[in-house]
Amino acid sequence: MSNYHIKHLEEYYQVYRKSVREPENFWGEVAEEHFMWRKKWDNVLSWDFNTPEVKWFQGAQLNITENCIDRHLLTRGDKTALIFEPNNPEEAAQHITYRQLHARVCQLANVLKDQGVKKGDRVCIYLPMIPELSIALLACARIGAIHSVIFAGFSSTALSTRINDSDCKLVITSDGSYRGSKSIDLKAIVDEGLEDCPGVETVLVVKRTNTAVTMKEGRDKWLQPLLDKAYQDCVPEIMDAEDPLFILYTSGSTGKPKGMVHTTGGYMVYTGYTFKNVFQYTENDVYWCTADIGWITGHSYIVYGPLANGATTLMFEGVPSYPDYSRFWEIVEKHKVNQFYTAPTAIRALAKQNISFAEKHDLSSLKVLGSVGEPINEEAWHWYNDVIGKKKSPIVDTWWQTETGGIMITPIPFVTPTKPTYATLPFVGIQPALLDEKGVELKGNQVEGRLCIKFPWPGMARTIWGNHERYKDTYFSAFPGMYFSGDGALRDEVGYYRITGRVDDVIIVSGHNLGTAPIEDAINEHPAVAESAIVGFPHDIKGNALYGFVILKESGESRMHDNLRKEINQIITEHIGPIAKLDKIQFTSGLPKTRSGKIMRRILRKIASKDMSNMGDTSTLLNPEIVDVIKDSAL
Ligand code: WT7
Repeated sequence: MSNYHIKHLEEYYQVYRKSVREPENFWGEVAEEHFMWRKKWDNVLSWDFNTPEVKWFQGAQLNITENCIDRHLLTRGDKTALIFEPNNPEEAAQHITYRQLHARVCQLANVLKDQGVKKGDRVCIYLPMIPELSIALLACARIGAIHSVIFAGFSSTALSTRINDSDCKLVITSDGSYRGSKSIDLKAIVDEGLEDCPGVETVLVVKRTNTAVTMKEGRDKWLQPLLDKAYQDCVPEIMDAEDPLFILYTSGSTGKPKGMVHTTGGYMVYTGYTFKNVFQYTENDVYWCTADIGWITGHSYIVYGPLANGATTLMFEGVPSYPDYSRFWEIVEKHKVNQFYTAPTAIRALAKQNISFAEKHDLSSLKVLGSVGEPINEEAWHWYNDVIGKKKSPIVDTWWQTETGGIMITPIPFVTPTKPTYATLPFVGIQPALLDEKGVELKGNQVEGRLCIKFPWPGMARTIWGNHERYKDTYFSAFPGMYFSGDGALRDEVGYYRITGRVDDVIIVSGHNLGTAPIEDAINEHPAVAESAIVGFPHDIKGNALYGFVILKESGESRMHDNLRKEINQIITEHIGPIAKLDKIQFTSGLPKTRSGKIMRRILRKIASKDMSNMGDTSTLLNPEIVDVIKDSAL
């Protein structure tokens, strides 16, 4: 039996049982046999979900880049590590071998050191999907700096909030970025954001679009000339297994974004092990995940997981619709992609197009199709399975979160029989539980409840940067002794899980996790707005779209509503980014509130979804009459 590469269903059950009965032996063996450590651990696991405190491989020492790069040099030095497919199909793709990757990571690591970056320092990375982005993550890891990648679609305000939250002293960015037919002035966004970030001493700028930029004397430096002078070897910093590797922000239902902290050893083992099995990666396969590295999917399954396995991982700079809707399939054919991992929102958008976009390309290289980010609906599942997979490539619907670091509930392709819309079975080592509202665990099958995890896994986030209390409150307080995911799920008659969606005020729009509070805070900054409430409603392509209920101040009453709508979306774009724009904005004179002043979002959700039949119990409302008023002018 191989613990590392599961190939049969009986093997899955056997390995799963071992991972639950003897988790320390199990993870200890995986870690020892498949990863490279400078020093072995004293203790595989110590944990307490009440404090909460979780430590994996305590006492061990390693550098994750030695695992992702150096150890492959002997056998895979000339193998392609990274394929870069540019936005413009006329521009040549780049193939970067493991040896070249090693040299480039070391050069950037040396530049960072020259700029005064030391172990434990935070480095902000705000880059488009170009090779320098992957290289930047790895260069930070090489010297023990903690990277904080901010998705390059975020606004200057979102950027500065995140930079300040973790006191980044250096930012890596580019002059601009390409997205389809658009070119975006990233450096200008950084300049604006940095006006509020006194702690940033240095900005390194990659040249991508050759657009004119302002370079601030003493702070801003072009990266290429520094790289040209840098030595191509850099001794890796030896890290403790529990040293932070990166911070990645995710939005919560309240307050400012949460900087989830992932540590080195456990994260490496978990992303490496899940990658191998969930994608059944074998040597010489070409693997492509379409996510942006600005999200956890990109961290774990474009960079760390694939490279830890010596895989060839493709990164794509552009969008699925440029130059036309055949682009994804053209790339699959061109690079003979074997494993393809994308989001339901992309699948739905592509399924709407003429079928010839997919059919004119040779997709026969595909072996495994992945889905992540939100529940995949039945129609999209079948289109993906039939049109793209020709019914021979299993769909792996992978449920997980920024906080979990890696995939948690998923089929293993060719091992677990798939079922449309079901994420199916827990991955090895994962012990899910469904709880009712009172916190009672629902045993047996055919039950529905809140999805919790009972036992630690190596890839889990260890804290929220600078706010351990909030980490405890958010994940370990609702159901003491368990990690609470914030999702609802059901377990069917054979024990398969289906994720039913968020049970809190987080809305997943096009696979992006958006908290309602930060959007409402942004809207409320508009001088004409008194109060607002955001809810999600079903959308064909995005899964959910945002619906805003807005109360105007007296001063705003006479304003043209269409102009106000534009201004509100403009403010949201400035504070968060275009992904958080509202599809519908309804102006109203009041919001349904309970006696304690809490907005009853359940009612607003029903109105936004045009599900007006039964509003449920409104007796606890302070102003029940407002419900009909809002219903009557619903959009
Ligand atoms: C939330 C986490 C980690 C992947 C990218 C999103 C939803 C994620 C699925 C799935 C149903 C899913 C959940 C989860 N989600 N994957 N396969 N089926 N829902 O990471 O931004 O941290 O969002 O995405 O609601 O809690 P994230």
